[in-house]
Amino acid sequence: MNQNRSTAIEATLIPGDGIGPEITDATLSVLDALEAPFVWDRQVAGAAGVAACADPLPPACLDSIRRTRLALKGPLETPIGGGYRSSNVRLREEFKLYANLRPGKTIVPGGRYENIDLVLVRENNEGLYMGYENFIPIDGDPRAVGMSTGINTRQGCRRICHFAFDYAIRKGRKKVTVVHKANIMKALTGIFLETARQIYEEHYRGKIGYEEIIVDACAMKLVMNPWQFDVIVTTNLFGDILSDEIAGLVGGLGMAPGANIGEQAAIFEAVHGSAPDIAGKGIANPIALMLASAMMLDHVGRVDLGDRLRTAIDLTLNQDGVKTGDLGGSATTQEFAAAVRKRILAAS
Ligand code: NAI
Repeated sequence: MNQNRSTAIEATLIPGDGIGPEITDATLSVLDALEAPFVWDRQVAGAAGVAACADPLPPACLDSIRRTRLALKGPLETPIGGGYRSSNVRLREEFKLYANLRPGKTIVPGGRYENIDLVLVRENNEGLYMGYENFIPIDGDPRAVGMSTGINTRQGCRRICHFAFDYAIRKGRKKVTVVHKANIMKALTGIFLETARQIYEEHYRGKIGYEEIIVDACAMKLVMNPWQFDVIVTTNLFGDILSDEIAGLVGGLGMAPGANIGEQAAIFEAVHGSAPDIAGKGIANPIALMLASAMMLDHVGRVDLGDRLRTAIDLTLNQDGVKTGDLGGSATTQEFAAAVRKRILAAS
């Protein structure tokens, strides 16, 4: 990579599992064309961490992020229903990455929905993801009852709501929608709703629009009329589900980037997982990770480079007609990356 020493920024790179290394290579090649300022410290985690050093989150990886406070991460595999705890969740906890920012924006017109431009802000550290889970044995069945305890704190709700309102105002957005299920989970999501209301009244009334909606109604309205939403803020599990739904509105998981932001670090990633069904075939869509790297450029103050990357992706898709299979095209991951590279170089 072409590095200008005076502006070089050290960052941790975790290529990840499944399609991770393929989309990471594609992303690095476009960042290289942009002459992005990152100097990478490569680390492993997830299944690659287990394979390399019998640890899904090796200390060297944690030390690297502790030092750089900045990472680009491919998807990490998590065993379902048993095995080690999600390395993604552990990273979010370790670095107190309390805000998960997931924009959903239409780039390819002609899909089911046009002109979608939504941002979901998901609380990333609390709720039902805290892992307070256990089974109760009855009558010889060791797993007769499954239990999970969710926890939302006043402080956690306050922090994520401030983040969402501040973000929305800074980005010139019109409205923040608070998504909850306080009619049923009166404590767990009631505290979130109550805090959001309080914070809005005390700090943001008159500066930005505000509304509240129950999560099931929100899921339905996102399908019926997604344009009524602007910035959505919600608790951990609801945010996980709704952000995949929003990805579906803009062409699928291959188009959805995410940022995990906290006081100690920021980790940028695609919303999607390791896609084991297509791993190794060279056909994965690298756009989500490329857009995540554009968010990373914005984060370090290089919005100019982030915009150039977003424009190059847009032109590659819409003018050159180069698309991967999930978008109805036939380009491989590498062919798509080469086309974006060409657009970047042509514009520089
Ligand atoms: P997934 O997101 O990996 O795949 C869901 C479907 O979307 C699959 O059909 C896949 O082929 C497709 N897909 C995903 N990304 C794509 C891309 N870039 N291009 C084209 N098609 C794409 O979800 P799944 O199968 O539930 O999870 C697989 C593994 O990934 C699991 O171990 C899970 O725990 C992990 N995971 C990791 C995440 C992370 O690291 N942030 C997030 C979500 C899941």
